[in-house]
Amino acid sequence: MPHLTENTQLGGQELRRIIYSADEIQKRVAEMGQEIMEAYDATDRLLLLGLLKGSFLFLADLVRAIHLPLHVDFMVASSYGAEMQSSGDVRLLYDPDASLKDRAVVLVEDIVDSGTTLKRLLPRLEAREPSSLEVCTLLHKRLDTVEVEPRWVGFDAPHEFLVGYGLDYAEDFRHLPYIASL
Ligand code: IMP
Ligand code: MG
Repeated sequence: MPHLTENTQLGGQELRRIIYSADEIQKRVAEMGQEIMEAYDATDRLLLLGLLKGSFLFLADLVRAIHLPLHVDFMVASSYGAEMQSSGDVRLLYDPDASLKDRAVVLVEDIVDSGTTLKRLLPRLEAREPSSLEVCTLLHKRLDTVEVEPRWVGFDAPHEFLVGYGLDYAEDFRHLPYIASL
């Protein structure tokens, strides 16, 4: 485990505790790649759609664990400013050029918290007629408000504010290879 206060990646900022080490994350992501591989075959025209920015490391590791032909694209949605609470207002800042029609689409999320992001985005993606649409999230806080059930979940996360491995607080900490609480 890295020593939190001595880590030069933190620039003197302090984190509370490590929740998932880099090794635990890598092991689980490899398993998730395997699970996704087993659900599709080469004719499905798989498209992994990463929700930026939070999913960038997860998606990068995940696609390398899926040994099937696939395409990668991204969406940018924003519901948080420099806040720890979702504002509830989900803005789409970038929408993929890629056609979803007749493709097996997997939306890749870093974390499901209130579920608002998924609730707003999924109908918009469904309208583009993918052959299937599933959600894969690294973390899930399992709050009662969440109406959408992701098909793949990496870890059931504690109800704390988490940073690292793509997750930020006001844009800090995304580059940490582990996940910690703030
Ligand atoms: P939801 O719409 O409330 O489900 O929130 C989804 C988005 O909020 C995620 O994609 C994250 O970007 C952000 N988020 C939620 N919880 C956390 C957290 O604990 N740390 C960092 N970002 C979070
Ligand atoms: Mg996010």
